[in-house]
Amino acid sequence: MPESIALLAIESSCDETSASVIINGQVKSNIVSTQLIHEKYGGVVPELASRAHQQNILPVVDAALKVANITKNDLKAVGFTRGPGLLGSLLVGASFSKGFALANDIPLIEVNHMQAHILAHFIEEPKPPFPFICLTVSGGHTQLVIVKSHLDMEVVGETLDDAVGEAFDKGAKMLGLPYPGGPMIDKHASLGNPLSFEFPVSEMKGLSFSFSGVKTSLLYFLQKRVKENANFIDENINDICASYQLALIKNLTRKLKKATKVHKISQVAIAGGVAANSGLRNALVDLAEKEGWKVFVPKFEYCTDNAAMIAMATYYKYLEGEFTEQSISPLPRYSL
Ligand code: KG4
Ligand code: ZN
Repeated sequence: MPESIALLAIESSCDETSASVIINGQVKSNIVSTQLIHEKYGGVVPELASRAHQQNILPVVDAALKVANITKNDLKAVGFTRGPGLLGSLLVGASFSKGFALANDIPLIEVNHMQAHILAHFIEEPKPPFPFICLTVSGGHTQLVIVKSHLDMEVVGETLDDAVGEAFDKGAKMLGLPYPGGPMIDKHASLGNPLSFEFPVSEMKGLSFSFSGVKTSLLYFLQKRVKENANFIDENINDICASYQLALIKNLTRKLKKATKVHKISQVAIAGGVAANSGLRNALVDLAEKEGWKVFVPKFEYCTDNAAMIAMATYYKYLEGEFTEQSISPLPRYSL
């Protein structure tokens, strides 16, 4: 019988501490500890995030090993998120993984978080065939990526200013909704009429995105309407969210459509936290029919930050023998 490949993976790039065990390419556990401390500050506080990672990392790793029913002696390597992300947060995962690799005499594998978001598509069936175009949408990134193989990816378009997740979160803040705002906007939007108000779709050239315009237009719109009626937001929250969300989605799908034409690829995937948005997921299903695309949408739990996706990347890198040195340091900005 071939030897089994059991790997541990750690994710700590932002405010989720997560560990996962993968055996022969099958995810066996995925423990995610979400840091709730940031809620009262209306956004992630980097210093508090790294402290919380310090507290959470050991219990999360223990739980991941336990759920997978293995011990650390069974592991062949440990993978971790090298970046992009918050430096203090990344340092906790990187330092832990380095120590873990040394203590257990196993190799270390570094993973790009954005590549891992895309590889979340390989956790379960149906897996997209190569090449496919992936729209990766998260709190820090908005990218169009041509995925040629598990580890060969090319960014063909990205945002020139805010990420779409930021536009969701900042929009939610203007509306007085709690952090993280994306899921809250999604919830209200599902109860509202998206044609109630109109927000702009940017006219960026090529495959570039821009979200600062639509965000600012929401700000000016609210300032004007609240001046006329102090209860405007409360009375119209569902319709505002639905209309704002529609504008953000149109900004995304317009460029996605363009990318499929320019690159002549009709296999399309979405990844990253904003891929959990129900409006975007529905829009993609509609587009699949209209445009003749084959569309791949990950399970909700694999859209937002998790270590299962890091484990998938760790597995493919292990198969290629892509190990890294103990001297490696995190990269807060780490391009694909
Ligand atoms: O991928 P992710 O968990 O972390 C980063 O790598 O940034 O993405 C987080 C982003 C946040 O901006 C959050 O508001 C957004 O994903 N998000 C959503 C939804 N769920 C998470 N945005 C819109 N609708 C959702 N349902
Ligand atoms: Zn992420």
